[in-house]
Amino acid sequence: MSQLSHIKNIEKAQQEIERKMPLMQSAKMRQRYHFMAPTGWINDPNGLIFFRGQYHFFYQFNPYDANWGAMHWGHAVSDDLVSWEHLPIALAPSESYDNHERGGCFSGSAIEHDGKLYLMYTGVSKRGEGFEQTQCIAISEDGVLFEKYEGNPVVTAPEGYDSSNFRDPKVWEHDGEFYFICGTKKDNLAQALLFRSWDLIHWKFVNVLYESRGELGYMWECPDIFPLGDKYVLMFSPMGVHERTTVYLVGDLDYSTGRFHPIATGEIDWGFDYYAPQSFRDDKGRRIIVAWANAWDWMPWFKDWGPTFKEHWCGSFAWPREVRLCADNTLQFIPVEELQKLRCGEMRTENLIVNSGTYYNLEAGDGIAYEAILSINLTESTADRFELWLRCSDTHKAVVHFDLAKSMMWVDRDNADGWSNGVSRSAIRLKDKSTLQIHLLVDQSSVEIFTDDYHTSHSCNIFAGSSQNMNYITVPAGTLYIDSLITWGIGSTSERS
Ligand code: FRU
Repeated sequence: MSQLSHIKNIEKAQQEIERKMPLMQSAKMRQRYHFMAPTGWINDPNGLIFFRGQYHFFYQFNPYDANWGAMHWGHAVSDDLVSWEHLPIALAPSESYDNHERGGCFSGSAIEHDGKLYLMYTGVSKRGEGFEQTQCIAISEDGVLFEKYEGNPVVTAPEGYDSSNFRDPKVWEHDGEFYFICGTKKDNLAQALLFRSWDLIHWKFVNVLYESRGELGYMWECPDIFPLGDKYVLMFSPMGVHERTTVYLVGDLDYSTGRFHPIATGEIDWGFDYYAPQSFRDDKGRRIIVAWANAWDWMPWFKDWGPTFKEHWCGSFAWPREVRLCADNTLQFIPVEELQKLRCGEMRTENLIVNSGTYYNLEAGDGIAYEAILSINLTESTADRFELWLRCSDTHKAVVHFDLAKSMMWVDRDNADGWSNGVSRSAIRLKDKSTLQIHLLVDQSSVEIFTDDYHTSHSCNIFAGSSQNMNYITVPAGTLYIDSLITWGIGSTSERS
């Protein structure tokens, strides 16, 4: 009976997708190579997993509107993280525990068990005037059709916790037992709670894995913990820490106490549009993270989700990044190499000198979807500052400033496209460095800038139309020596459905 209403709601949502799909043909702001839902609204990546030889992405999805609403789980598979095939919706709101009209099936994760694919997600249900969040399970034999477990919910908020802030389970296996952490808040401080199970159905609360003492906000969304080298990484998207949207901590996880002990911390991305990253391990042994490339209305700088709602869609994922642990326990986030498959029209310039007051034309593909790697020679350069002007027309440009004297960078999109605004800022570590490498991934509606040996990145959406296709390097004073500049056009991915 219960599975029937789930199937019915999935079918209804599929019809809505079919109805809107033709509109995507004329949508001019669609990304060319970043992952998107077929139509409608997308937010967090969910249930990322390499299962039976394929990458599976699930995601927070509203097929009915280009705005957030009752959450479904969209689903797509890929052989290479580049070309995606959209599959039927995996989860739709249908049960008393997950059918709140401003809730539904919230974020969660996936795990393989006994050859089956398990999804663990947060069900949001009505509770009096408010709502309640509980953890639920859905199981699939074939990795396509999911049946919600009849005993759902499998976990409710422990005694003394706020059940309206108890969400986003991330599940994993260790030494033959299952664990998940989820985000919650207590006394207005964020916590990650740890649970343990032997079968993914019966769960026991273990401990508060880690908590904010105020410095890390009042609620953590989408917490994730994973082993990397000889350490564990805890990452989360904190609410209430100003510009910080994605924080990581490196340390040790003590399974006997269920406590995490950090020794280093950092930021995953400083841009305006990088939130709720989730990690998974693939068959090549890589730890990959994927984030939603947008922001929430409660963030201090938030204006809106961009103009794409006019085209009946909203949102994309940032390009997947491989996480690497460095000797000093900081992390690098490196765009996965699969993008090389889409590279075309390589251009290489060596020993380039950009003099003060000049504008070097950064030629890269069609100037809209491209990749570029610049190696700045810090020893030879006399310029204290330089700028990259991206996606320019005569009237608009996104400006990336590098201040070498102050070891700072910032991305200014106040005049980027007549729509977006804000300046994202961060430090860069230049001490004792002779080279500064900058890696750009630019797509129809976004820029991702990696620098500082992949320790620092800024991901920002800009809704620059196709006539904004010029890109420059400019230096206000002094001379900039660029040892090498390599650019590629990036071809479009084929979206099948
Ligand atoms: C994070 C988040 C999650 C929640 C989901 C709802 O972006 O707010 O905490 O599960 O989005 O769509």
